[in-house]
Amino acid sequence: MQNKAFIIAIDGPAASGKGTLARNLASHYGFHHLDTGLTYRAVAKALIDQGLPLDDEAIAARVAQELDLKGLDRTVLSAHEIGEAASKVAVMPEVRRALVEAQRKFADNLPGTVLDGRDIGTVVCPDARVKLYITASAEVRAERRFNEMRAKNADADYNAVLDDLKRRDERDMNRSASPLKPASDAHLIDTSKMDIEAAFLEAKKLIDAALRS
Ligand code: C5P
Repeated sequence: MQNKAFIIAIDGPAASGKGTLARNLASHYGFHHLDTGLTYRAVAKALIDQGLPLDDEAIAARVAQELDLKGLDRTVLSAHEIGEAASKVAVMPEVRRALVEAQRKFADNLPGTVLDGRDIGTVVCPDARVKLYITASAEVRAERRFNEMRAKNADADYNAVLDDLKRRDERDMNRSASPLKPASDAHLIDTSKMDIEAAFLEAKKLIDAALRS
């Protein structure tokens, strides 16, 4: 019996397909899953709901320290404006410090965990057994987001979605605290021309090999 959690770290930009892949892998292997983007979103939403500023590091860090990972509601937190606000609070080192601590505790859950985000393989779980970096061109990612919004009958403009994704990529990749980048030992999976099933099979091959070793 293993007494150390088998950790799968999945990183990548918005709408790369990493969230769906992480959920599918967790369900396949019977592992716990944490979408770490929700933790940044929850901090942003709590600040907005309480009428607090998004750029005060001490206030945002206090909210981050009080966050309960069990109360994260994907439906409520998925709103577009919350994602935008989340990427603003995510630039603050004290907020990251508090959330990373909670994420690391979660990662230790037996028998294993899947965490997805921007800095899992590089900062949160540098010793993860498998690291995946999921990417796709900005145009393909914007089309996916656009189709999702249309399916929910939300107003959507492809060019606005594309501009938005590029702005968020820019903020996530160029911030000084834990910028989005592949870990040196991450496996790159480009889903531009791949459906979710193909991405799952590729990830499964890598994970099965690591589980055997
Ligand atoms: O993945 P999601 O779109 O929900 O993430 C929202 C924002 O939270 C991202 O744009 C990013 O700025 C931030 N984030 C982060 N580190 C993570 C996960 C998310 O900085 N591990």
